Amino acid sequence: MKRFFRRAAAPVLGVLLFGGIAAKSLAEPSFSSEQVDLMAAACANCHGTDGRLVGSVPALAGRPAEVLEARLLAFKHEEQSDTTIMDRIAKGFTDEELAALAAHFAAIDPDGDDDSQAEQEPQE
Ligand code: HEC
Repeated sequence: MKRFFRRAAAPVLGVLLFGGIAAKSLAEPSFSSEQVDLMAAACANCHGTDGRLVGSVPALAGRPAEVLEARLLAFKHEEQSDTTIMDRIAKGFTDEELAALAAHFAAIDPDGDDDSQAEQEPQE
């Protein structure tokens, strides 16, 4: 009877995992949405939850990903003179992580409800 269950799950799991990784790498350089969410949480203190704060700190939500990425890379590589803090923050991330963060905030609807974020993750 035991034989019936013998390792039946292992190949299935392998295919699922491998398939998931292969599909991901076609889009962004292989960050899970959980990883990006964790990185983005570090921005919320200043930019507001989901980057929707409007005030002295610039809003991020819904801005074009190319613009956000270019600004983050400029902060990181000290090509941006009008910076108080973002230069130091951007240095804590790789260029790929900054690109993923830019895509994350660009995909958020600036007028959306707080609980609508799940539908707005970039292509899963
Ligand atoms: C300590 C507060 C603080 C944190 C944390 C923070 N930011 Fe900022 N951010 C700012 C301020 C202030 C500016 C305005 C530029 C400056 O003074 O450096 C800014 C500017 C920016 C800009 C440029 C926006 C524009 O319109 O030019 C981007 C993009 C950005 N931040 C992304 C991020 C991301 C992504 C994170 C998380 C990894 C993050 N920030 C974390 C305070 C913060």
